[in-house]
Amino acid sequence: MVKTIEWTDEGVVMIDQTRLPREVVFVTCRDYREVAEAIRGMVIRGAPAIGVAAAMGVALAVKQAPGRTAADLQPALEQAAQCMAATRPTAVNLFWAIARMKRRFAESQAAGADAGQIREAMVAEARQVLCEDIAGNQAMGRHGAPLVPSEKSIMTHCNAGALATGGYGTALGVVRAVAETRRQPPHVFSCETRPFLQGARLTVWELQQDGIPVTLITDNMAGHVLKSGRVGCIIVGADRIARNGDVANKIGTYGLAVLAKEHGVPFYVAVPISTLDLSLSSGDQIPIEQRSPREVTHVFGVPVAPEGIDVENPAFDVTPHRYVAAIITERGVARAPYEQTLPSLAQGCTPVGLSTEPASGGPGIM
Ligand code: MRU
Repeated sequence: MVKTIEWTDEGVVMIDQTRLPREVVFVTCRDYREVAEAIRGMVIRGAPAIGVAAAMGVALAVKQAPGRTAADLQPALEQAAQCMAATRPTAVNLFWAIARMKRRFAESQAAGADAGQIREAMVAEARQVLCEDIAGNQAMGRHGAPLVPSEKSIMTHCNAGALATGGYGTALGVVRAVAETRRQPPHVFSCETRPFLQGARLTVWELQQDGIPVTLITDNMAGHVLKSGRVGCIIVGADRIARNGDVANKIGTYGLAVLAKEHGVPFYVAVPISTLDLSLSSGDQIPIEQRSPREVTHVFGVPVAPEGIDVENPAFDVTPHRYVAAIITERGVARAPYEQTLPSLAQGCTPVGLSTEPASGGPGIM
């Protein structure tokens, strides 16, 4: 499996996702500003991968800051945290990772660590974020695999695979877990995902590398394919899930979920606990990133619309929780009522907003 992101002595190394599948090129970010630029420019994308990158960016800043005490390093920590937070607004994993790195810094400082020890602690923490992400995805795969019916295809949207995470993937992690445990690998329908084409460029490439059969369709073919009865379930990832189970994910996800309901196909969302934002009561409060009109008017630099046309380009939409059959996490599978099941699953972790949540029972958790 390809390495999405890695900490090295030279800097943070990432596969350049803007150039896949035509070229497999790795870039090295040598300071935190380059990491932020890579996130903003989609060299690295996908909520959990953005979180790992942000953690490594913050670690890089602290590692490179001069000084002998914690106080000397503090400005670099704050500057990097601010810079990372301003890259992309929707994926809550980004903010979760920054908060985790700040917490680690504060703990080291409180324990009386000197600058050298704090630098080491920050690097170790960032590497730990990466390791935990991969292990979490494998656990998610184990929890999700039993939900996938045999003999039918899985449909997915965007890329929630190894490339969108530290490795293995969330939605595609479930696909991989099915492939590893059943005689026949599952067949996947990948929606191309206009306008940035993560499905066509990344999902299809990544599954092809693993020998998992995949069929590429344009987004507007999904209804036709679902109607044919060949799809057993839809599995997608998410950038942020509110306390009531509303799911922000790549634009087009909402339409797919509605189509799934119409055709009696279960719609699953696979996420790490760090994608839960329990501080938000509903998906209406999730900030939606607006991206450049050029992504819509141009395809690979070639204009496909008349010049000067008015364009909207929201990168994400919000799927109301009533369309979500289950949320698959590394800790188990949550079903409605999500207000109760999500905080229960998250207990013991520290997703955004959890600290304000009372503990509750476990109805709906498998
Ligand atoms: O704009 P992107 O490519 O970062 O959007 C990615 C998605 O929407 C993914 O589905 C989501 O981040 C989950 S990735 C495991």
